[in-house]
Amino acid sequence: MTSDLFSAEAVILPQGGPLYLQLKRWIEDAVARGAIKPGDALPSERDLAARVEVSRVTVRKAVQHLVRDGLLIQRHGSGTFVAPQQSRVEQSLSQLTSFTEDMARRGMAVRAVWLDRGIYDPSPDETVILGLSPGDRVARVARLRLSGEMPLAIERAALSAETLPDPASVGSSLYAHLDKTGNRPVRAIQRIRAANLEEGDARLLEIPVGAAALHIERIAYLPSGKVVELTRSVYRGDTYDFVAELRVGDAARK
Ligand code: GLP
Repeated sequence: MTSDLFSAEAVILPQGGPLYLQLKRWIEDAVARGAIKPGDALPSERDLAARVEVSRVTVRKAVQHLVRDGLLIQRHGSGTFVAPQQSRVEQSLSQLTSFTEDMARRGMAVRAVWLDRGIYDPSPDETVILGLSPGDRVARVARLRLSGEMPLAIERAALSAETLPDPASVGSSLYAHLDKTGNRPVRAIQRIRAANLEEGDARLLEIPVGAAALHIERIAYLPSGKVVELTRSVYRGDTYDFVAELRVGDAARK
């Protein structure tokens, strides 16, 4: 169904920047306030151009960007639609939990597709971060993490081979395995930055190349202070929210 919005309201584009970005923002706003809903069809390129009084090239460019961002989807032969809404997973930033635990708390079934698990010569990065000595080797476990059928993240973990001599013995949870062997981390530093997906990761996460994603690096420590895990993950930007609880610090209270 094509939304009434395109016939009912006067289209007043937000001002500033190139026209295609103004139109893009207008469509984003319309979706955000629920004026066009997931599953609604957009008018054809020609109709939309006539309605908004911009060129078809402008419409095409705005739509291409919105498809890339995952807000719209194009189905060959049947048109352009507002993408189905993904329910977002909220992840606390202050708890050192595993993916399996995060999802279990939400009642979501998780599974993993193994992308790699083996023993390798470490990269310079791994050597420094994991504090390896010359000749030490590294265990790598890389997984696509899914909730049901929906891919959520790609996680690539590196641990010293001494900690994880047999990566194939890891079951569905790395932290459960580390728990069993007395190597579960108790503290971690996590760095989060925005990223745009490259082709390989986009394919695995089933979203368009260039779509927004979160790149997360976790360096986790044992009680002794030794680094036990270096994990670099890519989370789908449309399914994950990281939530931090903030408190007034002592300095502000004085
Ligand atoms: C999180 C972290 C990873 C960690 C993983 C363990 O998602 N980002 O650094 O390796 O959890 O999860 P699991 O025990 O489910 O394998």
